[in-house]
Amino acid sequence: MPPDPAAPSDANPAAKLWGGRFSEATDAFVEAFTASVGFDRRLYAQDIAGSIAHATMLAEVGVLTHAEADAITAGLDEIRAEIEAGAFAWSVAREDVHMNIEARLIEKIGETGKKLHTGRSRNDQVATDIRLWLRDAIDGLIAQVRQYQHGLLDLAEREYATVMPGFTHLQTAQPVTFGHHMLAWYEMLDRDAERLADCRRRVNRLPLGAAALAGTSYPLDRELTARLLGFEGICRNSLDAVSDRDFAIEFTSCAALIMMHLSRQAEELILWTSAQFAFIDLPDRYCTGSSIMPQKKNPDVPELVRGKTGRVYGHLMSLLTLMKGQPLAYNKDNQEDKEPLFDTVDTLAGSLRAFGDMVPSLRTKASNMLASTKKGFSTATDLADYLVGRGLPFRDAHEVVGRAVRLADERECDLAELPLADLQGFDARIGEDVYDLLTPEGSADARNLPGGTAPAQVLARVAEARAALARGEASSG
Ligand code: ARG
Repeated sequence: MPPDPAAPSDANPAAKLWGGRFSEATDAFVEAFTASVGFDRRLYAQDIAGSIAHATMLAEVGVLTHAEADAITAGLDEIRAEIEAGAFAWSVAREDVHMNIEARLIEKIGETGKKLHTGRSRNDQVATDIRLWLRDAIDGLIAQVRQYQHGLLDLAEREYATVMPGFTHLQTAQPVTFGHHMLAWYEMLDRDAERLADCRRRVNRLPLGAAALAGTSYPLDRELTARLLGFEGICRNSLDAVSDRDFAIEFTSCAALIMMHLSRQAEELILWTSAQFAFIDLPDRYCTGSSIMPQKKNPDVPELVRGKTGRVYGHLMSLLTLMKGQPLAYNKDNQEDKEPLFDTVDTLAGSLRAFGDMVPSLRTKASNMLASTKKGFSTATDLADYLVGRGLPFRDAHEVVGRAVRLADERECDLAELPLADLQGFDARIGEDVYDLLTPEGSADARNLPGGTAPAQVLARVAEARAALARGEASSG
């Protein structure tokens, strides 16, 4: 439940953790306007983990006694339990998650609690919290992408020989296999997972020790804190550590690319479920009906994912603009980083969850796809290739087949339905055997090279990709 911004707050300025130099209480509106606890409390677990690591390190270097660090750790463990039990009284007067938890610690353990913030600032604290949070979020998202990829491989294997029209310009181009189409989606996601993993390396650095902006005079062991929190290393410049949010922007840009891919997939799913295409059926549990038209089964989930792509692009633009023009080091502007970041993760996680279940359970309508493949002269290239095999240069073969297509178009029939005599009228080299080649299946079978659409290639790629996923590697490289 978000804290009530209208709730009365402490009138005594000294009640603030920074109250010392103030002579009047914060304006009630300003207090609510500047507070972030309504959304940054989502970082509570990371904030507590960071504080425990900081206190543990302070004891190791002798700034705190071990007894003090133990008391702080025990107090923070209790606070975590209070929060998780819904028993923690969040206060807008305490501004943000950091000061809410620290003030509660002081309430609970007294004087020792006041020592936790030694050699630390909220500026390096918040940067640490977000990095910890985002690291976990990235791990969850990578797992979701991988799960969806597994589902696509299963679907590709199931439909490895199902023929459908392939399109360019959304006009019939050449026959492809449905399995091959699913593998195209697989490859997009494989690069997406790779990008997330790469971004994670830059997220996973420790800001603590930067303090407010300049570092601190206490002999902190930053490498120790980094190890305790599972960071791969420390941020190398204190000014940079507290100020830059490029890691969040980079993540949001990876997320925007994934949403772009999901949006393209959504668009195809929507087209394919229409009566005009009728290539697939989505599970009923992912569709909705119309309150007036009894026949309707609307692909709401893909439509929503397509729509939500816009909101993630918006978050990317927000964060880029938030950072733009900020002088070093920390500025309060950065408090605005959290809502776009949280919503990006939530939106992406929801979209991946939906697609990861819905797409692998779609049903293909193979006979409709085959019938559609026979429209639009999808095997015209095959006829040209046939003539090349009989000695005609490709450019001339292209011209000959173009004329044959025109005739078939006039007669409103397929190339394969033109009588042999008519075909031979265009080129005498054409024989009876051409009809095997002019089938959609024959055309797909013929594209039997790595990366091609032939059923044999689909099965080979599925096996190779499964092995790579099992090894936990990207397989597109
Ligand atoms: N709530 C703040 C944020 O999210 C924490 C850091 C505040 N630091 C400060 N010097 N006011 O950015």
